[in-house]
Amino acid sequence: MAARPKKAKHSNIVMKRIGILTSGGDCPGLNAVLRAASRTSEKLGFELIGFCDGFEGLLPPESHILLDRHATSGIMHLGGTILGTVNRGQFINRSGSRRMIQAEVLGKTRQTFQNLNLHGLIVVGGDGSLSTAQLLHEAGFPVVGVPKTIDNDLEATSMTFGLNSAVECVAEALNRLHTTATSHKRVMVLEVMGRHAGWIALQGGLAGGADIILLPEMPFEYEKVAAEIEHRHREGSKSTLVVVAEGASPKDGKQSCQQTTTGERRLGGISEIVAKEIAERTGKEVRTCVLGHLQRGGGPTTLDRILATGFGVKAVELIAEGKFGSMVSYQNCTFVDVPIASAVQKMRRVNPESQLVQIARSVGISFGN
Ligand code: F6P
Repeated sequence: MAARPKKAKHSNIVMKRIGILTSGGDCPGLNAVLRAASRTSEKLGFELIGFCDGFEGLLPPESHILLDRHATSGIMHLGGTILGTVNRGQFINRSGSRRMIQAEVLGKTRQTFQNLNLHGLIVVGGDGSLSTAQLLHEAGFPVVGVPKTIDNDLEATSMTFGLNSAVECVAEALNRLHTTATSHKRVMVLEVMGRHAGWIALQGGLAGGADIILLPEMPFEYEKVAAEIEHRHREGSKSTLVVVAEGASPKDGKQSCQQTTTGERRLGGISEIVAKEIAERTGKEVRTCVLGHLQRGGGPTTLDRILATGFGVKAVELIAEGKFGSMVSYQNCTFVDVPIASAVQKMRRVNPESQLVQIARSVGISFGN
């Protein structure tokens, strides 16, 4: 277990300080980013403090901990984030369709920067949190971004950490589902995360030996899904594994959503619908499994640890170079910087014509379209 981090002292500091926070949904690899940022800060002569519970930790009463070498030792392999995170809070406001941060919140944040003598702030987050980081940058705050999402849906970076850990979880689930499905000659429908981008479904399905993969980017037809299952079983296959992304939908159909108690629209339930349609059309026994937050929990894979370490190191270097308003991006196996603004402009989605989709088709995977 990692030692409980100490609270940073408020004093007349000579040493320059950097702040870091994790915001939005958690993701395996966040602690590896914190560890790498801590070590790089120390090397470059900075003190690193971590704000608790996302941006909220910036507001009075400020909530932060010192992220020195001791506090971040032994955390690289741990899932979640030792800083805590939130999906919503006082920084997220809208004026019509435009995101904004209220003047009062900006004023309090400015005060925190002064109180703590903050030289820069690293925001580790997905598109929503990076939009907030961009607004802070536009308001004059020295901010640097680190992209984080298991969905891998940010166009400005070719890969984010967290995806590979989720893919590993999907592949492992398929390995397990395969043995039981084959024993009972059943069809299994596995629902995985991916609201608008089907990277987890595509990579997890490919790695886990799925037979049919249904993606948000490729609307499917039930008739084609059913025909594929019947064809497989005629050819002697004992089971069929279907992977469906939570955001996938049939041609001319809608995404499946559940209403939460707070009135929020949350994706989910597509596996039950797909299972019912398959059972009705083929007469086969179908079972469903929803992986849900198992994909986000647990420790990062070795690939995600390496990626997260690179993101953490580069973020501190960008602060040291004064490259505020930029975000670390992974391109062509190199960590580079791009404007945060570019990361929140366009979503990275699976291209149906891409080589990976063609490879999947070549090994007999159907996309139901
Ligand atoms: O964006 C990451 C993600 O894991 C999505 O794949 C998923 O739909 C969503 O977050 C779940 O969010 P929450 O943890 O708030 O239910």
